[in-house]
Amino acid sequence: MSEARSLAAELIARFSTRDATVAVIGLGYVGLPLALLFVDRGFRVLGLDSDGEKVARIQRGERTIGHLDSERLRSALASRRFLATDDVTRLGEADAIVISVPTPVTRRHEPDLGDVEAAARTVARVLRRGQLVVLGSTTYPGTTNGVVRQELETSGLTAGADFFLAYSPEREDPGNLRYSTADIPKLVAGFDPASGDVACALYAAIVETTVRVGSLEVAEAAKLSENVFRAVNIALSNELKIIFDRMGIDVWEVLDAAATKPFGYSRFDPGPGWGGHCVPVDPFYLAWKARELGAPTRFIELAGEINVAMPGFVLEKLEGGLAERGTALRASRVLVLGVAYKKDIDDTRESPAFELMRRLFERGADVTYHDPHVPHLEHQRSWPELPELRSEPLTEERITRADAVVIVTNHRAVDYEFVRRHARLVIDTRGVFRDPAPNVVRA
Ligand SMILES: NC(=O)c1ccc[n+]([C@@H]2O[C@H](COP(=O)([O-])OP(=O)(O)OC[C@H]3O[C@@H](n4cnc5c(N)ncnc54)[C@H](O)[C@@H]3O)[C@@H](O)[C@H]2O)c1
Repeated sequence: MSEARSLAAELIARFSTRDATVAVIGLGYVGLPLALLFVDRGFRVLGLDSDGEKVARIQRGERTIGHLDSERLRSALASRRFLATDDVTRLGEADAIVISVPTPVTRRHEPDLGDVEAAARTVARVLRRGQLVVLGSTTYPGTTNGVVRQELETSGLTAGADFFLAYSPEREDPGNLRYSTADIPKLVAGFDPASGDVACALYAAIVETTVRVGSLEVAEAAKLSENVFRAVNIALSNELKIIFDRMGIDVWEVLDAAATKPFGYSRFDPGPGWGGHCVPVDPFYLAWKARELGAPTRFIELAGEINVAMPGFVLEKLEGGLAERGTALRASRVLVLGVAYKKDIDDTRESPAFELMRRLFERGADVTYHDPHVPHLEHQRSWPELPELRSEPLTEERITRADAVVIVTNHRAVDYEFVRRHARLVIDTRGVFRDPAPNVVRA
């Protein structure tokens, strides 16, 4: 047996008996639940994050992600098998290191791999023989075998021979009550067969299904395909919404009807735009790589154009509804209901609420918001025009005071009947109200 093979066999045996330490770099929406799952399954876990304040809060058992069960975090800490830290030297103790750091885009919509490179550089400083390094961040095909491997090999060690290298994308869907990390099938690909075996053994210990694919690039491309698929289909639903609106047809009734077809149709709901760290961002990773190779990306670009234009459609509907009631937008009080990018979570990244609020402020409206999951909206670097805001209580007085309530996010915690009863005008971008009502306008 080659030396790498025997290192692999040893690691696989340790994963199966849980006599192993797993480090997760990046304790965010994806990394923290993943780290806790490793703890649940019996591993010793080091959670590394460069944000010292976040590390301290996690160590105190405080919730850093709204929808995460804090009891789970506290019991992980109590088990003494979980430690959150910003001390990178501790990575040397790990048998497996999973990198789960952000992969945003630059202002020019190009991939920004700064955090991935920094994390790989950190690992390179402590890398030792026989460790497994897995990239989990979403990225373009070629990243793991490109910049990540290059950074790691600055350690003087070689992938495949001295350490194991794999890619396994995160498919976490925050707030999804039906699927959690453990029951979402995990795609896994290794740099070489031994790396693939080791990485599959690691994930087989924590999730129900691992799906091994033939190359790092296939796994990277599969993750992007999933999100491009969402981006394009959301755009299609948004386009259909506008078309049916012009035709006087209720798009929600159409979607309910179409979704009864048991094959050949997947439902995607329209909305006020797109949001989150993935769907509006990931397609640019693929488009950037495709452009480098001269391949056209028309679908991806069109989806972007349509989704980005949606806050404009909402604004048009709002302006029309207000005008019918004799109020000008510039003199109106607008209560935005929901600023998270989707329901039941506290994540506001790339939320369409920002563009809508920016335009409302620009047009002179008096804007407030209510979001049960987002008590405070800090100053946004990408939306410098927006002031810091606090969530207003959703009282009868606040609702009646507003000229319009715009539902941007359909959180379950909101009593929409109460809103409808007291609002002068409701702009419903999420199909919350299925029956027509004189004070509800679909947008
Ligand atoms: N949020 C989602 O729903 C979701 C779903 C699937 C995939 N993803 C992908 O998972 C990856 C992580 O996303 P996220 O939403 O968890 O991000 P996040 O911003 O919630 O968390 C990332 C964490 O990494 C830390 N970090 C950044 N650079 C670091 C470094 N060099 N060393 C240590 N810590 C560092 C940050 O402080 C932060 O706490 C991204 O590639 C994203 O596209 C996210």
